[in-house]
Amino acid sequence: MRVIGIETSCDETGIAVYDDEKGLLSHTLYSQVKLHADYGGVVPELASRDHVRKIVPLIKQALADANCTQDDIDGIAYTKGPGLVGALLVGACVGRALAFAWGKPAVGVHHMEGHLLAPMLEVNVPEFPFLALLVSGGHSMMVAVEGIGRYQVLGESVDDAAGEAFDKTAKLMGLDYPGGPRLAKLAAQGLPNCYRFPRPMTDRPGLDFSFSGLKTFAANTIAAEPDDEQTRANIARAFEEAVVDTLAIKCKRALKQTGYNRLVIAGGVSANSRLRASLAQMMQDLGGQVYYPRGEFCTDNGAMIAYAGMQRLKAGQIEDLAVKGMPRWPLDSLPPV
Ligand code: KG4
Ligand code: ZN
Repeated sequence: MRVIGIETSCDETGIAVYDDEKGLLSHTLYSQVKLHADYGGVVPELASRDHVRKIVPLIKQALADANCTQDDIDGIAYTKGPGLVGALLVGACVGRALAFAWGKPAVGVHHMEGHLLAPMLEVNVPEFPFLALLVSGGHSMMVAVEGIGRYQVLGESVDDAAGEAFDKTAKLMGLDYPGGPRLAKLAAQGLPNCYRFPRPMTDRPGLDFSFSGLKTFAANTIAAEPDDEQTRANIARAFEEAVVDTLAIKCKRALKQTGYNRLVIAGGVSANSRLRASLAQMMQDLGGQVYYPRGEFCTDNGAMIAYAGMQRLKAGQIEDLAVKGMPRWPLDSLPPV
């Protein structure tokens, strides 16, 4: 089976062709970063319009790169939610229209299921069950995964998502959007132990997260300290360490609770090297294993949507002709495969 995946939930247009025997045949990505940079964040209307401009040329390119035509495609997977509704509707309309025109089945994919399954695109794939830490710009979740579509959300952020906290703190430091990777780069120049940020919600039981307090702590620290590059780097490092430590503490707790010894980290923040190193060390100490996607598949992409969609299409989960976008969509409401 060969599936084309379409991702348009936020500010990246991602298209990919995935074959269940040959693996990933092609993937193309257009990032709207430059478009939104002047505004310091994603402008939903501009995002939707740019998806409209880019989606068809990228689909043509992905098909050409995969050396195939529409006749070689057996199904279409598009991101149905969660995300920005206008952006989602672009992908959903094009996905559904192609399905109708080509006479192929289509399925709407949950964006976070795409992230969760992204490590399956790699050579070393995790077996079920496993614990998944999903950390993106819009969501932070701890999920017990028993199989595809068999998800139990054990905890989530009660305020900002981890990526959102990175982006907002980066903005306070005068870094351009998207701030997460820029803050991480600055933190690499920072000295350890200059500041001690709190580890929110680790002093009480439970697996929920809260990151907005870290942003406020960063704002107060920035205001109180001199405005030079080394000080900013030191603050960035202390902030990053606090996020990473908090996530690691919660992962350890969730592994104990579930008894699992495999940990998947996915979503944009899983590209963070300090987080990867810290969780890899933790899993080594615990005698377990950690899995994550390659860097380019941590952030939004079409490959993860093609992969997740293929699993659902293979199970006969085909959608009708209605074009649906789901800006909010609980992960644990998905049907099992
Ligand atoms: O998964 P993603 O591409 O989009 C959403 O589904 O939200 O995640 C984007 C988020 C942004 O907040 C971005 O700043 C963050 O991931 N991010 C990082 C890094 N790379 C991306 N945060 C920290 N360190 C990084 N290296
Ligand atoms: Zn995402």
